[in-house]
Amino acid sequence: MSFEFEKLVEASDSKARLGKFHTPHGVINTPTFMPVGTQATVKTLSPEEVKEAKSQIILANTYHLYLRPGHELIRSAGGLHRFMHWDGPILTDSGGFQVFSLGDLRKITEEGVLFRSHLDGSKHLFTPESVMGIENALGADIIMAFDECTPADADEAYARQSLERTHRWLKRCAAAHKRPDQALFGIVQGGIFPELRLESIQRTLEVDLPGYAIGGLSVGEPNEVMYDLLDQTADELPKDKPRYLMGVGNPDNLVEGVGYGIDMFDCVQATRIARHGAFWTGQGRENIRNAKNQEDFSPLENGCGCYACQHYSRAYIRHLVQAKEVFGIRLLSLHNIYFLNHLMEQLREAIRQDTYQAFRKSFFAQYTV
Ligand code: GUN
Ligand code: ZN
Repeated sequence: MSFEFEKLVEASDSKARLGKFHTPHGVINTPTFMPVGTQATVKTLSPEEVKEAKSQIILANTYHLYLRPGHELIRSAGGLHRFMHWDGPILTDSGGFQVFSLGDLRKITEEGVLFRSHLDGSKHLFTPESVMGIENALGADIIMAFDECTPADADEAYARQSLERTHRWLKRCAAAHKRPDQALFGIVQGGIFPELRLESIQRTLEVDLPGYAIGGLSVGEPNEVMYDLLDQTADELPKDKPRYLMGVGNPDNLVEGVGYGIDMFDCVQATRIARHGAFWTGQGRENIRNAKNQEDFSPLENGCGCYACQHYSRAYIRHLVQAKEVFGIRLLSLHNIYFLNHLMEQLREAIRQDTYQAFRKSFFAQYTV
């Protein structure tokens, strides 16, 4: 299985790149955004709707699916694609973020991470080997190595210790990974320290893999700190492999990230903010509950090609959200996912025309972060 990354265009005005990543379930045009389907569903939407909103690939979570319904059940169903009826590419995250977010419920050792289930308090051990076994059973096209997502407030000594453990774990992941039809991606860590990030890249590249990710960002540090780190380090990743910035994906982050040479992004915000009545337009984030939308019969965003904007008004969607009707959340989720995918489409077109900086400038002239 080749997992070829075809680089089509390199921008002259930034580090942005246009490419195509080949997977067993189809080709992904990059740069791309991946909606999150933690529990084998992009919350409230059918796979057809997710696809109609221009999604090319979705993300699912090993931690959640291992605890419920269990990876053996999903293997029995024929794998994640068949279980959830999504025939496009899927990426599974390793649990390296989720188990570390459990706080007091977990203990890290060289062997792995002992944690308690957030569902019933039962004890479980994740090791690089067990996580590869779970991700092999789930059967996603891209599987992430088991890493430690270093907290943003980690001091240099802790960040170093954590990145070294992550690299020992990466070697164990590569040795335990059994399916050539799945691409294993390694994850760079290093906290907020540029030298550690560069060292982490060198160590991660010791394992030859079809793609590499940048982890441990957007975990509480200011945006500027993240951008500085990306500016200093992202382009040190191989030019001929996809680069994935994990857990980052507000509209402004996507526009900036592409300029630093990032090819893949994921973020729960599109569906999460929808559940709070919020949505994006070219001007920024707003809330449908706002009184100004009460008698506004225009769409969420003029000119938007999404299903919600084609058929429904702000007044109607506001009414649904106020009445706690699920359809309101569905329409906002659809619009938000379409908004990010359409933004990526515009970025790809700008790279093709070599007008990335002009696009970035016009985007930020309108958009309030
Ligand atoms: N999602 C967001 N950040 C991270 C990270 O550092 N590691 C993993 N595994 N997933 C993430
Ligand atoms: Zn829309």
